[in-house]
Amino acid sequence: MRKNIVAGNWKLNTSYQEGIDLAIEISKLVAESGDKNVEVIVSPPFTHIAEINKVVDNDRISIAGQNCATETSGAFTGEISAEILWSAGADYVILGHSERREYYGETNKLLNIKVKKALEFNLTPIYCVGEVLEEREAGKHFDVIKEQLETVLFDLDADDFSKIVIAYEPVWAIGTGKVASPAQAQEVHKFIRDLLADKFGGAAQNTSILYGGSCKPGNAKEIFANTDVDGGLIGGAALKAEDFLAIINAF
Ligand code: PGA
Repeated sequence: MRKNIVAGNWKLNTSYQEGIDLAIEISKLVAESGDKNVEVIVSPPFTHIAEINKVVDNDRISIAGQNCATETSGAFTGEISAEILWSAGADYVILGHSERREYYGETNKLLNIKVKKALEFNLTPIYCVGEVLEEREAGKHFDVIKEQLETVLFDLDADDFSKIVIAYEPVWAIGTGKVASPAQAQEVHKFIRDLLADKFGGAAQNTSILYGGSCKPGNAKEIFANTDVDGGLIGGAALKAEDFLAIINAF
């Protein structure tokens, strides 16, 4: 179901107590700001999920894991499964973030397995795609994104596809302060939606496609105003409750 979403990706930040306090503050600010046509997601470190699930208003704040295993359970030291995340209170899981692709060698093939595993255990994947700077400069960004979508999502059935959320994150904009222009974001988001429509038909109109990469209170409104941009995946600015709220209020 297509909806506006603002998701905070906390990455490897916040001690346990800092994370709980941040979640409580976000929950309070979201409650005070009244009903908005936007779903709010926080994605803390795994250890914080169960407690955050208890302390926030669950009707207003959803929780995402930042990764999940390809396996269901067993002898996989250091991994976290979709089922464990779900049992701790997560509703979503971020998959295919460029930092996972770059630093941990996650491939499209592996991500295809993770997406299916997440769906099997009731987690909604927030599947990230996006090109690095050299690919954009070489004019290859559409090819890269096409491959990231086709290899990971195109063997899903219609029911599973209807649950997917996409995040377009140009890697050159992540944490760099260089944001894609609203026109650049819209161009790629439309490309993604058209590609999904070719494969899955009208269902692609119901897919939420988020923008990520240096999204801040000062630029969120003009990015979110685009027809095919349904919200944001927010890194740095999600770690300050007021900034995160200002981005939510950009809708
Ligand atoms: P940023 O990160 O907002 O700090 O650029 C976005 C992301 O990596 O999801």
